[in-house]
Amino acid sequence: MGKPRYYLTTPIYYPSDNLHIGHAYTTVAADAIARYKRQRGYDVMFLTGSDEHGQKIQRVAAENGVSPREYVDKIVAGFKSLWETLHITNDDFIRTTEERHIVGVQKIFQELYDRGDIYKSEYEGWYCVPCETFWTERQVGEDKICHDCGRPVELVKEESYFFRMSKYADRWLQFVEENPDFIQPASRRNEMISFVQSGLEDLCVSRTTFDWGIQVPMDPEHVIYVWNDALSNYITALGYGSEDEEKYRHYWPADLHLVGKEIVRFHTIIWPMMLMALEIPLPKKVFGHGWLILESGKMSKSLGNVVDPLILVDKYGVDAIRYYLLREIAFGADGHYSEEALVRRINADLANDLGNLLHRTLTMIEKYFGGVIPEPSAAGDLDQDLAAVAQAVAQEIEEALDRLEISTALAAIWKLVGRANKYIDETTPWILAREEGMRPRLQTVLYNLAEALRIIALLLVPYLPTAPEKIWKQLGLGGDVRALPWQRVKTWGILEAGTVVKRGEPIFPRIDVEEALREGEKKVTKKAPMAQERISIEEFGRLDLRVAQVIGVERVEKSNKLLKFQVDLGTEKRQVVAGIAQWEKPEDLVGKKLVMVANLQPAKLMGIVSDGMILAASDDEGNLSLLTVDRDIANGAKIS
Ligand code: MSP
Repeated sequence: MGKPRYYLTTPIYYPSDNLHIGHAYTTVAADAIARYKRQRGYDVMFLTGSDEHGQKIQRVAAENGVSPREYVDKIVAGFKSLWETLHITNDDFIRTTEERHIVGVQKIFQELYDRGDIYKSEYEGWYCVPCETFWTERQVGEDKICHDCGRPVELVKEESYFFRMSKYADRWLQFVEENPDFIQPASRRNEMISFVQSGLEDLCVSRTTFDWGIQVPMDPEHVIYVWNDALSNYITALGYGSEDEEKYRHYWPADLHLVGKEIVRFHTIIWPMMLMALEIPLPKKVFGHGWLILESGKMSKSLGNVVDPLILVDKYGVDAIRYYLLREIAFGADGHYSEEALVRRINADLANDLGNLLHRTLTMIEKYFGGVIPEPSAAGDLDQDLAAVAQAVAQEIEEALDRLEISTALAAIWKLVGRANKYIDETTPWILAREEGMRPRLQTVLYNLAEALRIIALLLVPYLPTAPEKIWKQLGLGGDVRALPWQRVKTWGILEAGTVVKRGEPIFPRIDVEEALREGEKKVTKKAPMAQERISIEEFGRLDLRVAQVIGVERVEKSNKLLKFQVDLGTEKRQVVAGIAQWEKPEDLVGKKLVMVANLQPAKLMGIVSDGMILAASDDEGNLSLLTVDRDIANGAKIS
């Protein structure tokens, strides 16, 4: 019998801009799962790619004065190089502009049409270009804004093809009920069930007002809606619709589509309904992970707060960045990104706990045994406990990763690291070395530490791309640690005594927190380029800018960035939180008249409600200046 198969995918990314650390998060998580499954002996197919068509890309390309093709080629080359830098082990990369994809998408469209599930009619409704999403009158509300991202939507009226989604609602509900693990985590499953129960309309699946897309086979004036185009990548990459469907037959249905929470709806409703209509089996699981957010909100190009993964890797190394992303955020939940937390994790977990364990162990093997791993003798309670923790950890990882809890798996590995460090303190090898007759005991202790490190190196393979090999080499072991099977972590005592260790440089040098942060965030946070897209006066008019006088300011506890303001807007007083503590002293601000966005939806920053936003200018050198008015004017005066 062949190996069991495991097919997992990331979303395919829009090449509307370079990728930021939030995008890298999805792919790093998928890569960890792919590597783990390979270690467990699966025949893994790990797919990622780029989602290159649609109105958004066509517009961005035009704003940059190049053809869509030129634009996407350049950005996609950047994606591929980022994945290499992050040591992503994808087995394939699909571009939706590739022939293999176009052929498959047209075949799918034709098939749905032939089966009577696609029909021609007229679409009139709302469209969000950044999300490439259709919305009904009810969903955009009176303000005419996108239900998902809150940006203004555009009115669209055009002849279109429609997919009979409504027809599949009951079958879908039944499927989801019978397959409780299909949508995860459970909270997202419930959301999707309510969405479908609230009534589905047929989906508009073609556009005629722009041409950057795959042509509808029987009507070339139309291009296929970018989400139908994009979702199909999961099977076109396997050759579906081509002359050679072997890979498709081998790997489909996918075991896991890993996606961010905002696109769960497309993956769990539209995609499965397309597959139902095509009579193709559905993927086994769609997991919607949370977002990586900054103190100032979700990372976004327009806010100018995107964190560039390439700069971070350059500064701290690929293992450290991957470790931080996977360890810090409970998979499924939203997590806050901060460079400070990153540096603290590197120092505490990698440099101190892991780095020191390796360094201390090898130094003692060199000092007491000339660098040769000694032969152990009979095990006592402490030794048995160390071995038992190693076994329990392996078991815990298996269970955690079955639930895709990557951060739990890493926490489990650090239990073993912690136990091994404690074992050094309990067994005090430096005292054993001085005492008469304790040589055999010292041998056992140092053998066990080296054995624990062998297992730790193996356990780390899915998450850290370079450290396991470095540990392996320093332990004097040969062969490729990444190619060894999982079984090797489950057997204690297979390290061969007599192996000669090769202690090297510390694998994770300590980082000076203060210095890293001083140099810091201005380097990793790219400033937004001047906006190319012009907005109308009506769009500008939606902003309610007011003069706000500061009546009180205090620092937010446990944050070195946030200040909490009380401001007077003439007719009312408000509380606003702003991330400017590095630049402004609270006592200098009271009495100042600042400029504030008064009609922003309230948000919570570190649990404190901020009802508005204070405006400030910042430059690439890290300077900041608050906006104010140049002569006295009434509090609450409108700015236009
Ligand atoms: N092109 C679509 C997906 C089509 S899949 C058939 C798309 N692309 S995207 O480039 O906008 O996003 C790709 C992935 O990156 C999504 O899963 C999204 O959730 C993820 N992330 C983007 N910003 C993120 C964070 N700040 N944090 C975590 N994930 C984030 O959507």
